[in-house]
Amino acid sequence: MDLKIALLGGDGIGPEVLAQSVKCLQAVEETFNHHFTYTEGLIGAVAMDKYGSPLPKQTIDLCKASDAILFGTIGTLKYDDNPSARVRPEQGLLQLRRELQLFTNIRPVKIFPTLINKSPLKKHVIFGTDFVIYRELTGGIYFGEKKLSEDGTRASDLCEYSEKEISRITHLAFKAAKNRRKKLTLVDKANVLETSRLWRKVVTRISESYPEVQLDFLFVDNAAMKMMLDPNDFDVILTDNMFGDILSDQGSAICGSKGLLPSASIGNEHAMFEPFHGSYPQAAGKNIANPVASILSTAMMLSHFGLHEESLAVVIAVDKSMKKHVVTKDLNASSKYGTTQVGDFIAGNIIDSDENLNY
Ligand code: IPM
Ligand code: MN
Repeated sequence: MDLKIALLGGDGIGPEVLAQSVKCLQAVEETFNHHFTYTEGLIGAVAMDKYGSPLPKQTIDLCKASDAILFGTIGTLKYDDNPSARVRPEQGLLQLRRELQLFTNIRPVKIFPTLINKSPLKKHVIFGTDFVIYRELTGGIYFGEKKLSEDGTRASDLCEYSEKEISRITHLAFKAAKNRRKKLTLVDKANVLETSRLWRKVVTRISESYPEVQLDFLFVDNAAMKMMLDPNDFDVILTDNMFGDILSDQGSAICGSKGLLPSASIGNEHAMFEPFHGSYPQAAGKNIANPVASILSTAMMLSHFGLHEESLAVVIAVDKSMKKHVVTKDLNASSKYGTTQVGDFIAGNIIDSDENLNY
């Protein structure tokens, strides 16, 4: 298969972890006889420094002309220290999601059995955890009208959703549940918010087309608690932009390191793959960042294009790195391996083997 891939490393550790993903994709090309082309684009603080905008037009054009986008991370200390700056690097990512209409963010939360001791939760609670968050990504409070009074003493952010915005992600979430353990939990705050009540109405109506899937509702505060007490209770979580942002960080923490989990942001025409984690600027350039979340994002990309064996080969190579303790310091403080060594190991272990199918 030929694929045009846009590489947006962004800020902080983004470019370093993305470079490991490219190594892995090159191994996939060789092993499975595919042909991928890679083109780099600027986004975030690096783009602001060079072009004065966190999302230059060249980058948008590049993404639109590509089959898939691999995204690193965004945000630097320079701008974090100045939250009132009018233009922020994060706007580059938000605008890109909106521009490409990447309305569904898929965030799987799955425990690697080898890493079960890394979780802050007790083993028996965490064992077998495997759920996926479907987070709405282009609407809600992130994109509603923002206001600040002239004297700077009042501010507001509007949270708005339309039926159309809710229903397009809801169908994707139900389809996912149908192929998994057939349970969908809508997480909202319907006891307080009008938007949440609309979500419940639309999701309930759509559930009639998926009779094999059990639909549950949970208020977001209760869901946050339940995720700690009994994460195995979840299969597919469907939720709005803001709740999904918060719950997915919580979900990643129960896996032991934020550096492990991948995500896919999908629209009708475009798809972008990015780690859960942030730009961790303190670690940039030190060869200590964990590349696994970025590498697993490439596995999600391969699945997205129907390259399931290739995707599995990447996942198995990652698993092997953990079994052989070829991991970064976030997973083993005395590890002698850095970002590039872990990337080399994983890329070097991507093989096309029938044994992969027994994984
Ligand atoms: C994420 C991030 C972004 C978000 C930030 C960087 C704008 O936290 O992808 O979860 O809030 O969506
Ligand atoms: Mn987040």
